[in-house]
Amino acid sequence: MDRYAIIGNPVAHSKSPLIQEAFARATGQRLRYERLLAPLDGFAATVQTFVEANGLGLNVTIPFKLQAFALARERSARAQSARACNTLAWRGDHWFGDNTDGAGVVRDLTRNLGETIAGRNVLVLGAGGAARGIAGALLAERPLRLAIANRTHAKAIELAAQLERDGPISAAPLGSLSGQQFDIIINATSLGLGTRVPAGLWPHRLFAAQALAYDLIYADHATPFLQWARDEGAARTADGLGMLIEQAAESFYLWRGVRPDTGPVFRMLRPGGGS
Ligand code: ATR
Repeated sequence: MDRYAIIGNPVAHSKSPLIQEAFARATGQRLRYERLLAPLDGFAATVQTFVEANGLGLNVTIPFKLQAFALARERSARAQSARACNTLAWRGDHWFGDNTDGAGVVRDLTRNLGETIAGRNVLVLGAGGAARGIAGALLAERPLRLAIANRTHAKAIELAAQLERDGPISAAPLGSLSGQQFDIIINATSLGLGTRVPAGLWPHRLFAAQALAYDLIYADHATPFLQWARDEGAARTADGLGMLIEQAAESFYLWRGVRPDTGPVFRMLRPGGGS
């Protein structure tokens, strides 16, 4: 049987097998999808063993997205832009590397949450791998402005410079945000789940009327960023479960040429609905 897997370290908690198996059932695709725990120093060797055993595709998670990018001999434009791969597809004699995170977040925002990105003021907090993975796809939706604000401003400048030909992206020092308002604010920092947003990390009153706060991470309860956003008066909040499912669907489409319906999987993983 065709084999697929999520590779990472750790990987035991991953919801990807549940999601991809649900897609396979719903679309009538016969495949096996498993968890692949690679040693921290053994990514390439684990991938090699997998492909020798009929492995055709991989989802890649922490901490291997950069190594997956290096391993891919052919890469999509969006993987180039992110400089990281979350999806690998075997092309007979080499790996094709893709990054479906940006498509996942845009689809979740526009289709599932009914949000418009075009013409809006969008702020991304953070300028690491997660921010790089989504910035290009957000710009392609033609926001009025895409501001990148990061604790280490130099990284925001670097990210904005890399994409400046693709649209109105700019690096905004955190201090400069005071007095500005945004329609969509996305948390792309790796602020831990168990923590609170430190007082003063981000300025007050960033949310415009009816603004959406969107966290790339997800949890069974409100994430620290979403708690902060509610305290700050954000009208709507959503965590990254929808993005997780949408990026998985995009990977499934790359591998199998069939686009699965994501609604049933979202309802399976979050029966109560909402964020
Ligand atoms: P990821 O792949 O999850 O994006 P990363 O590349 O290490 O991981 O980037 C982490 C991001 O979260 C960075 O933007 C980081 O800010 P710095 O560039 O200043 O390090 C941000 N981040 C992590 N912890 C943070 C904290 N406590 N406060 C503010 N920003 C934080």
